Amino acid sequence: MPPRPLPSILQIEPYVPGESEADAGRVVRLASNEGAFGPCPAAMTAFRAAAATLHRYPDGGSVELRRAIGRRYGYDPARLVCGNGSDELIALLIKAFAAPGDEVLHSQHGFLMYALSAKAAGAVPVSAPEIDLRADVDAILARASERTKLVFLANPNNPTGSHLAPHEVARLRAGLPADALLVIDAAYAEYVERNDYTPGDDLVDAGDNTVMLRTFSKIYGLAALRLGWLYGPPGVVDVLNRVRGPFNVNAAAQAAGIAAIGDIAFVDMSRRHNEQARERTARELAELGFHVWPSVANFVLVDLADFGADAAVDAAAFLKRRGILVRRVAAYGLPGCLRVGIGTDEEMAIVVDGFRAFRDQASA
Ligand SMILES: Cc1ncc(COP(=O)(O)O)c(C=O)c1O
Repeated sequence: MPPRPLPSILQIEPYVPGESEADAGRVVRLASNEGAFGPCPAAMTAFRAAAATLHRYPDGGSVELRRAIGRRYGYDPARLVCGNGSDELIALLIKAFAAPGDEVLHSQHGFLMYALSAKAAGAVPVSAPEIDLRADVDAILARASERTKLVFLANPNNPTGSHLAPHEVARLRAGLPADALLVIDAAYAEYVERNDYTPGDDLVDAGDNTVMLRTFSKIYGLAALRLGWLYGPPGVVDVLNRVRGPFNVNAAAQAAGIAAIGDIAFVDMSRRHNEQARERTARELAELGFHVWPSVANFVLVDLADFGADAAVDAAAFLKRRGILVRRVAAYGLPGCLRVGIGTDEEMAIVVDGFRAFRDQASA
């Protein structure tokens, strides 16, 4: 008999990343929320310099990087853990805190890696319905039990773009069992500057059972390097340092991250651009007759249900023929929607033209 994996592993639908190749000459890549302006320039310089020491093992504790992040946000570096993308930290948290059969709770259209990593660990993902594509605190609390070991909340959420206000996240924390770890995944936090949002660090500070995840893959434009980090209570940090690989973050990523975290001007410029480009794109798509869900992140979710049952599939293929790559989100339970990343002004004009042409031929 051949070796057999955990039964839950065979239930995993492998994660399908956003497309990156199209048939057309010029390609507008808006399928993976990678940021509009390429890599943060300071990070590129540091990355090139790292080439000279590629024969050395990286700093296994990401010490300088954690110091740099700590300085930037006023966090104790001892309470930070860096990872090979925040994806790695998601997987490690589940591996460390959920045994086979334990439950991992997430909202209905939450980031896919939560359920996927839960199954990989033999744990049971439990989905709580949303209201209008927004996490519903009461629905999550109603599904929490003594079997719940972790609760994941992406804030803002991918792929919906919606967010919860600090008082709602605090109510979630207060209502969960104390021994359930709340993971606030703030991958898109740098894009959000609003009175009704915090990335969750206030809740991390308030107790011993909440962590916040961040990434360099979005506003810093460093997705290829795979670099994420976690701010958490000492107990959780200690656990992660036991289960992570000794050199889980490569040296080039550490060097680029140290440079990027100090490039505040790049982040500010990117956030300002994102806000105006997102609002303009949403307005223009709405004027064309598409329903666009409100978003605070660097993408918008376009609902094509009014254009027919297969409209999202047809529109994605239509746009791809024009060299525009957007993301189908059927795997998130949203078969009638497309997620469109926010790129440069020029790219967004091409996208809006593409949707206009799709609408015109669909209604012809
Ligand atoms: C909500 C959310 N969390 C985590 C990630 C993973 O980020 P990383 O590239 O750091 O693994 C993503 C990437 O799309 C995301 O949307």
